[in-house]
Amino acid sequence: LYGPGFFLGKSGFFCWAEDFFCSIACFFSVTSAFFYAPSIFFWPLSHFFWKDTIFFLVRQSFFWHVFGFFLKNDHFFYDIRVFFLTWDSFFCAVNPFFFAIIIFFCGGGAFFFLPLHFTGRIDKSYPTVCGHTGPVLDIDWCPHNDQVIASGSEDCTVMVWQIPENGLTLSLTEPVVILEGHSKRVGIVAWHPTARNVLLSAGCDNAIIIWNVGTGEALINLDDMHSDMIYNVSWNRNGSLICTASKDKKVRVIDPRKQEIVAEKEKAHEGARPMRAIFLADGNVFTTGFSRMSERQLALWNPKNMQEPIALHEMDTSNGVLLPFYDPDTSIIYLCGKGDSSIRYFEITDESPYVHYLNTFSSKEPQRGMGYMPKRGLDVNKCEIARFFKLHERKCEPIIMTVPRKSDLFQDDLYPDTAGPEAALEAEEWFEGKNADPILISLKHGYIPGKNRDLKVVKKNILDSKPTANKKCDLISVPKKTTDTASVQNEAKLDEILKEIKSIKDTICNQDERISKLEQQMAKIAA
Ligand SMILES: *[C@@H]1O[C@H](CO)[C@@H](O)[C@H](O)[C@H]1NC(C)=O
Ligand SMILES: *[C@@H]1O[C@H](CO)[C@@H](O)[C@H](O)[C@H]1NC(C)=O
Repeated sequence: LYGPGFFLGKSGFFCWAEDFFCSIACFFSVTSAFFYAPSIFFWPLSHFFWKDTIFFLVRQSFFWHVFGFFLKNDHFFYDIRVFFLTWDSFFCAVNPFFFAIIIFFCGGGAFFFLPLHFTGRIDKSYPTVCGHTGPVLDIDWCPHNDQVIASGSEDCTVMVWQIPENGLTLSLTEPVVILEGHSKRVGIVAWHPTARNVLLSAGCDNAIIIWNVGTGEALINLDDMHSDMIYNVSWNRNGSLICTASKDKKVRVIDPRKQEIVAEKEKAHEGARPMRAIFLADGNVFTTGFSRMSERQLALWNPKNMQEPIALHEMDTSNGVLLPFYDPDTSIIYLCGKGDSSIRYFEITDESPYVHYLNTFSSKEPQRGMGYMPKRGLDVNKCEIARFFKLHERKCEPIIMTVPRKSDLFQDDLYPDTAGPEAALEAEEWFEGKNADPILISLKHGYIPGKNRDLKVVKKNILDSKPTANKKCDLISVPKKTTDTASVQNEAKLDEILKEIKSIKDTICNQDERISKLEQQMAKIAA
């Protein structure tokens, strides 16, 4: 007997049903306890039988009563100019120390980050990270160093930044390394979960490049696997495989080092709207997408047999792309629809119906983007099992998910050991074919950060490396130093163009200032 199972849209009714079934279950368990209790003294085995009775009646889950709430008002950060593109990105990235967010900045090209304890208004002159010549499309914090972040941009480059421990006092324009190799904008950057300095990027050139950031080299280039835009890439738990969801409606499981497609599913979701695919800890793939009738769907797949899904569920007919956030420790998936005002969460188990609807956190305003805190950044004393950062047009609000407990003690059932910041492998080991699971840490006394080592990039002789960076970028790329006499003329032209761009940027900046002045005046008048 599985409580309500999976019935969305009618969740009110089934919440009631859930309680009803629980009460019946409790009744049975209490009566059976009564019935069997005397025999416990005589026959210890009956104790197990008694326990089994309860398990038989209710699927045990700690997470039936996950409870979400907003933090108090003074935890908002506001007056951010978030740069909302048509791109389906999260627009922000969170680690245990910083909250980074892509912003509108004189024509795009920047993001900034705040220490997590920051609250209140953000000054216009707040320092930014602004080295790209086109808008930033995706950012990702390094899981092995909380002061390193990668960014992908419309200017066809990927940049990796090292930031000072206490944040910035001046804007940062010099990345540690610029990774060039894509011929169109780079919409996805994703660090390897367990190997140090391994970074994946995917661009609108339908190529995936895997970089050794420590040497600045593109070591794997998967440019003939996707026939259309890549919506999303996800590493598996030990980083041996990746899965992708693409505009050609295929979900692919790829072995990047063998450069081969291990499994694929055509029309994983039949609708034309964007899909997402993520790896779960057990190796299965979870996808979201749309049906032919434009209903939102979720599905679970086993890469060993992708013909039929393990589970496929229809949700509703909203049109926001469902962005999944996954916690491998608790096996909970949180689905945040773009433009929805709710977060729905599901527990994934290995028994039917596999995807169990748990609950919905609802709020009034729709979310424009969402950040998700890694497990080690949570407050274990408050029994917090997830923290989100909900982006609005101009502000951000943290949302906390907890499993309320009466005791003050550490709840080790809620916090199994979780992925720590230590890398299990060096980049070279991974490229040679080694795999390793994440190195786990206990959160018993909270997360105690160690010292981050500096990111050092030792460039190898460029002539030794594979010629992946010779494609021409369609957009403006950063001028390269060249000794070729024939290109001197080109360089002059490029200079001219860059000057022009600068003057356009200045104009935009001035306009920007004027607009915000006018807005302020308007606000005064309105008040
Ligand atoms: C893929 O999507 C999932 C869920 O939306 C997200 O957690 C992950 O970061 C995405 N990966 C990339 C590379 O964008
Ligand atoms: C890594 O994960 C893959 C797929 O889940 C599995 O087949 C492989 O055995 C794992 N390797 C190690 C070293 O854990």
